[in-house]
Order: sequence, then structure tokens, then C-alpha cells
Amino acid sequence: MSEEKQQKRGEFIAICSAKGGVGRTLLSVNLAVALCKKNIRISILDGDFQFGDVSLAMDLQSTFTIKDVIQEMNNLDEYTLASYLSHHESGVKVLSAPDKPEFADLITEEALDKIIPLLLTQNEYTIADTGVGLTDKTLLLLEKADQILLVTNLEMATLKNTKSMLETLDKLDMRDKVRLVINRATMESVIQAVDVPDILGAEDPIYIPNDFQIASQSLNIGIPFVVNQGKSELAKSIYKMAEQISSRREITIIKTKAPSLLSKMFNKRRLKEETE
Ligand SMILES: Nc1ncnc2c1ncn2[C@@H]1O[C@H](COP(=O)(O)OP(=O)(O)O)[C@@H](O)[C@H]1O
Ligand SMILES: [Mg+2]
Repeated sequence: MSEEKQQKRGEFIAICSAKGGVGRTLLSVNLAVALCKKNIRISILDGDFQFGDVSLAMDLQSTFTIKDVIQEMNNLDEYTLASYLSHHESGVKVLSAPDKPEFADLITEEALDKIIPLLLTQNEYTIADTGVGLTDKTLLLLEKADQILLVTNLEMATLKNTKSMLETLDKLDMRDKVRLVINRATMESVIQAVDVPDILGAEDPIYIPNDFQIASQSLNIGIPFVVNQGKSELAKSIYKMAEQISSRREITIIKTKAPSLLSKMFNKRRLKEETE
């Protein structure tokens, strides 16, 4: 890929987990809105193709879903794709999941190969909320992701499955792009959040505090808590995560823009050798 193209393409972040109900959707929508507040162009792909609930979590009455995009596949370009996205008042755009689980089968690898790059040319970030575990569809999304946020909580069963998932991602050569997110980290539990990195062999996790009232209210009324509870510890942790994610991208862009001194020297030497 040319340097120019690399800079123009947005980053793809997949949010996944080994267990259901750990907070993937809550984190996806709030992270998206927090990034959007930093004037970053952002879209969400609801990649829980059977039971996606991003639209619900953002109170969006989505007219179109990814199923409609697939029916338009032959004529698809970035402009037609844009017309299928639902717009949240924060500025976040959402490509909703089909409204019936049986339609999930329509979403093929070829379709995702076409849709995701179009989302990435239009947005600085695209966040994919995913279904539980390592299904074929989720694996496709994880393979395409630049960064994977693997969400866990402090429950024994979740930790056990998260460990297995990490091991599998390691075998699949995806371990390097995984960042662990310990959600509900302040919850009372036999296992302390600080012990989780050792238990799972995952350094430098992101910690999100426990606040069931704010979290459940946010999902139930469809208002991301970073919008109406911006001063809560929960929202602050999401802003911090957004900051870490966006500064990581700035670093990557600077790296691709400015060749290092060493590579300059190498290029000079190569040029000299070629002309000799
Ligand atoms: N940080 C948190 N503190 C308290 N409750 C949370 C937190 N994150 C998620 N929850 C609760 O967990 C449940 C599942 O969240 P959800 O985002 O739907 O999970 P998933 O998408 O992984 O199935 C919801 O009831 C939500 O309110
Ligand atoms: Mg969900």
C-alpha cells in the first residue's frame, strides 16, 4: 500500500469478548461518541450481525441496515454506502445490523471486504461492535482490525474464556493488536482487577469502573452516558480511552509521514550504490 493511501485510510477497531453481557455495546457507543467529541470522523459497524443492538443503545430508528447495503452491492461506492448510514446527533454514523437474526447469513466475507474499506476511507475511525466469541463472522472482523479491544470483567467464567480467547488469538497471530479492557473493574469480586493482567498474561489493560446505574440507564434510554453523564468516573474512563486510542494513531501517522534518520541514511546509501 502506498504511503499516501495509508495516511488516508482510517483505523478499524474491533470490540470483542469471550462472554456475552460484558459491555461491548456500551463501550462501543460511548467510545465512538467520545472520539466524535474530539472532532474525529467516526462510524460504527454493528458487527453483532444476529443480535446487534447499537441502534437501540443510541436510540436510532435505522431505516436501513447492512442487509440493504448487501442488496445494493453491485452499485456500491462510498456515496451510496453513506446513504445507508444512520446519523446520531453526536455526529457518529452507524451501519446497523439486520433486524432479524436469520439475515446474518447474507453478510459474506466478500461483502465485508467491500464495505469495510469504504467505511475506512470516509472515517478516521470505524468501530465494530462484535458478536460473542470467535465465530466466523467475528474472526473476519478481528482479522481486518488494526486494533482489537478484548473486553472482560472480573467473573471467573469470563476470565477463563478470555484467557482461552487470548491464546487462540495468539495462535492466529493476532495477539499483538489486542488490548485488554477490564470492564466493571471496581466491582466487588474475589478477583481484584490489578491481578487480572498476571492471570491473563496481558500487560497494560484499560480499566473501566463499575457503575451499574449509569450503565444500565444509558442502554435503556438510548443515550450514551458520555453525552449526559460526562462528569462521571465512567465517562472519564472512556474519555481517557479515547485519548489513548487517538494519540496512538497520531503517532502512527507521524511515523509513516516522517522517515526515520536511519531509513534516510539507508536510502541514501542505496541510491549511492545504485548510481555507482
Ligand atoms: N462499567 C459498567 N458498570 C456497570 N454495568 C455495566 C458496565 N458496563 C456494562 N454494564 C452492564 O452490563 C450489561 C451488558 O452490557 P452490554 O454493553 O449490552 O454488553 P454486551 O454488548 O457485551 O453484551 C448491561 O446491563 C450494562 O448496563
Ligand atoms: Mg452487545
